[in-house]
Amino acid sequence: MYRNLLTIRDMDRAQIEEFLDLAVEMKSRVLSGKPLPDMGRLTLGMLFFEPSTRTRVSFERAAHYLGMRIANFSQPGSSMNKGETLKDTILTLRYERLNGLVIRHRMSGSPLLAAQYFTGPVLNAGDGMHEHPTQALGDALTVLERKGRLSELRVAIVGDVLHSRVARSNAWLFSKLGNEVRFVGPRTLMPASGAMLPANIYYDLEEGIDNADVVMCLRLQKERMEGTALSSIAEYAKLYQVNARSLRFAAPDCLVMHPGPLNRGVELDDLAADGEQSAITQQVENGIFVRMAGLYWAFGGKRKSRSEGPKKPAAKPKAAKTKAKA
Ligand code: NCD
Repeated sequence: MYRNLLTIRDMDRAQIEEFLDLAVEMKSRVLSGKPLPDMGRLTLGMLFFEPSTRTRVSFERAAHYLGMRIANFSQPGSSMNKGETLKDTILTLRYERLNGLVIRHRMSGSPLLAAQYFTGPVLNAGDGMHEHPTQALGDALTVLERKGRLSELRVAIVGDVLHSRVARSNAWLFSKLGNEVRFVGPRTLMPASGAMLPANIYYDLEEGIDNADVVMCLRLQKERMEGTALSSIAEYAKLYQVNARSLRFAAPDCLVMHPGPLNRGVELDDLAADGEQSAITQQVENGIFVRMAGLYWAFGGKRKSRSEGPKKPAAKPKAAKTKAKA
């Protein structure tokens, strides 16, 4: 049995917690050199239709640790440049006998479409402005490690919320786990009030990060902006930059996060990005472990403590045999 990893919105609290336990287990195994699940028979298709550094490399590293093989696909070198549709591309990859797909695409919902035409797990590596579930899970693991808990925190997500799939996945995740989620940014970069996202909206940075335990900065996603969303970058930085001055309003031990890539000097300054409160490099590293958990989980693996792991079907007949003998 395989599972798709498409959105955080579709996961419940127990699933998120199970997933994070699995990521913790993967991390401790990698760091202590203990054996890891061997998924060596499986080949993973990597479909990145948008640029990526962290997400692509960490999915590849995750697959390497699990012994999987990778088939890379990029749009410029493919038949999509000859007009092939996403549906036909996915069908082709299915009959090329790939076992699973990681997909990043500018269109919201594209991983769901892919899942409809593929046989095997599909993992969303970021779909348009919709969701980026493995980023949020890696961010949650980082918060858990640094704060020692994943509930009753004030989490402020600051910047270009409108265009951010990271903001949406994190808002779902942290609200489902019982935290207060705030979106902070200019009106022109905020989703419409009817968007039904689980966050309180603030247009003023000092108010929005007041006493926050976690401040997540977002990149200004100019590639998704239409014309007049911002009057000037300098004005945005003046009003919304996370730096020593604005961080005075947050909790003294507030964690500073950013999914990357960073526009240094715009959404945050060097001191905030590289200082003691920053968790940015830890977010990158944890990206590997949640993606290992994601691949293992998607191909049907479960936490060890739950005895019904992937091998259970094989164990049953054995038990029956012993009984018959007795
Ligand atoms: C983000 C993305 O692509 O959504 N980056 C990432 O995956 N770490 C954020 C961004 O592009 O700003």
